[in-house]
Amino acid sequence: MTESVHAAERQGVTQPVANQPRHIAIIMDGNGRWAESRGLPRIEGHRRGVGTVRMVSETATKLNIAAVTLYCLSSENWKRPRAELDFLMHLLEQYLVEERRTIMDQGLRLKVIGRRDRLPENVIVEMNKTLAMSDSNPGTELVLAIDYGGRDEITHAVRELAREVAEGSLHEEDIDEELVASRLYTVGLPEVDLMIRTGGDMRVSNFLLWQLSYAELWVTETCWPEFTREHFLSAIGDFSTRQRRFGGLSVNE
Ligand code: IPE
Ligand code: IPE
Ligand code: MG
Repeated sequence: MTESVHAAERQGVTQPVANQPRHIAIIMDGNGRWAESRGLPRIEGHRRGVGTVRMVSETATKLNIAAVTLYCLSSENWKRPRAELDFLMHLLEQYLVEERRTIMDQGLRLKVIGRRDRLPENVIVEMNKTLAMSDSNPGTELVLAIDYGGRDEITHAVRELAREVAEGSLHEEDIDEELVASRLYTVGLPEVDLMIRTGGDMRVSNFLLWQLSYAELWVTETCWPEFTREHFLSAIGDFSTRQRRFGGLSVNE
């Protein structure tokens, strides 16, 4: 952790750090293992994880982070047992209703990325309400990746571009990186600067495949229910000291 983050923590305040990330993406992993290691059902880990989401959105707001993307459900997570999925949907609906007040108080702008067609109707209804209500909020963009898969997102974008070419509204030679990015679910968001994964696994699990190109990675063994503000500030502090080269040479060379 950098000195400035340490000092801020000692004073009980969280303030923006120099060179802090604009967009942080998080793989909130390890809920099940956290619960199982305590002899609890896996869903208890998911339940506890909601508290960590609250901490992250509050801290990001205080730090004035432009966007935080949270991996809530991957397109592959549908392989899980029905009971666990039902609980996750229940938790999601509850979050969208119960956190509405906090989202508004903190001025967060909610955004949801991923497929919508496989989500239950009641989740969609509450999601749309919270999306509409927070739409013009000025604060941190809180992006929930739900039924999200990086490959699915790219496939979706390719299909859209192919349709435009077939219709004649787009020329094949006009397709460049910027145009592809404009057809992704993350259009309008800043580049992902920092990707945090809890639970210790060193993989991206189909998360933001295009957007992570030059993101800095930060992995902790700590499981999501136990990920604290101190861990979060530590990741941000660490990021602020990283030297990013984007394929070029460092500034002193
Ligand atoms: C992450 O925790 C939450 C979701 C995938 C919904 P896991 O449920 O994957 O927890 P572990 O990785 O099995 O411990
Ligand atoms: C990634 O975690 C998905 C979410 C955190 C929502 P997984 O638990 O699904 O990833 P794998 O299966 O360990 O790669
Ligand atoms: Mg997992």
